[in-house]
Amino acid sequence: MPQEYPNDTIKVLFERASCRSFEDKPVESDVLTLVLDAGIHAASGGNLQPFSIIKVEDVAASSRLADLCGDQQFIAQAPVNLLFCIDFWRLKRWAQLEHAPFTATSSFRHFWISFQDTIIAAQNVCTAADAVGLGSVYVGSVLECFRELREMFALPEAVFPVVLLSLGYPKLQARPRRKLPVSVVVHDGKYRDIPDDDLLRVFAEKYPLSAPIEATPERLGTFRAACNAAGGPEFAARCLERVEQAGGFNMVQRYFGLHYCANRMPMDNTKFLEILGEVGFHCFEEYVLDRSDG
Ligand SMILES: Cc1cc2nc3c(=O)[nH]c(=O)nc-3n(C[C@H](O)[C@H](O)[C@H](O)COP(=O)(O)O)c2cc1C
Repeated sequence: MPQEYPNDTIKVLFERASCRSFEDKPVESDVLTLVLDAGIHAASGGNLQPFSIIKVEDVAASSRLADLCGDQQFIAQAPVNLLFCIDFWRLKRWAQLEHAPFTATSSFRHFWISFQDTIIAAQNVCTAADAVGLGSVYVGSVLECFRELREMFALPEAVFPVVLLSLGYPKLQARPRRKLPVSVVVHDGKYRDIPDDDLLRVFAEKYPLSAPIEATPERLGTFRAACNAAGGPEFAARCLERVEQAGGFNMVQRYFGLHYCANRMPMDNTKFLEILGEVGFHCFEEYVLDRSDG
């Protein structure tokens, strides 16, 4: 982190950190509108702005969101929750009213770009919030409750939740987390694999552990199941041997063996595609041209 910043925008970007503890204080409506408007000013493919933001300030609704999103109770505490959704419904209606063709909900190209548009708008809101002294945190686990969110917020066809942003005045100023250095993330001209030792070093610097993570019987069971699913019993035995030698788990074992479990994460791909279909997105299906009208 630089000692001195050339301006306030750069300072906000370097000093930002996710905030999960909010003061019991509402966000003034003019401040909230300003922050939301900053999001709406983001870049979007073709300037189409294919997104909508559901603003939630109702305590009961926020509490339900907290439960639905994996019991993350800071969501209930946040005075504002913003659900960012891809919205092709508004564009479809515009096309219908103005007699224009519309197949965006069947197009992977449109889906891909609109997903980015939605996230970019969310990030503008997030940065604007930081700039006015608010704190925020993204919640990605809306994907565990797509159907419930559709019902809860009366989302029409072709409106699809992407991410939630919990927002409010921070109770505690969170410290910026360590990040990988520019020299690792940025590749000069073409992709360059860094040597193994350097790779291990940069991750060790990013996640300094004073001691290995305790290998409780429950964690060992979770880890074994993840390793078994990802690489079979011999691989699992090697991984467990490593845990035993080290006297506990290292950080990448924690990430993919205990938290984002390698056996659980790839599950339900078909279910998610089905949900997209239910919402009216057919971009993962073959598109059949209908020229029946000549
Ligand atoms: C797409 C996305 C989804 C996230 N989902 C969650 C979440 O469900 N719960 C949570 O506490 N934090 C969530 N986060 C916040 C990350 O944990 C956080 O950004 C990360 O640990 C880095 O910390 P920092 O934001 O303070 O730099 C999410 C962040 C992103 C970008």
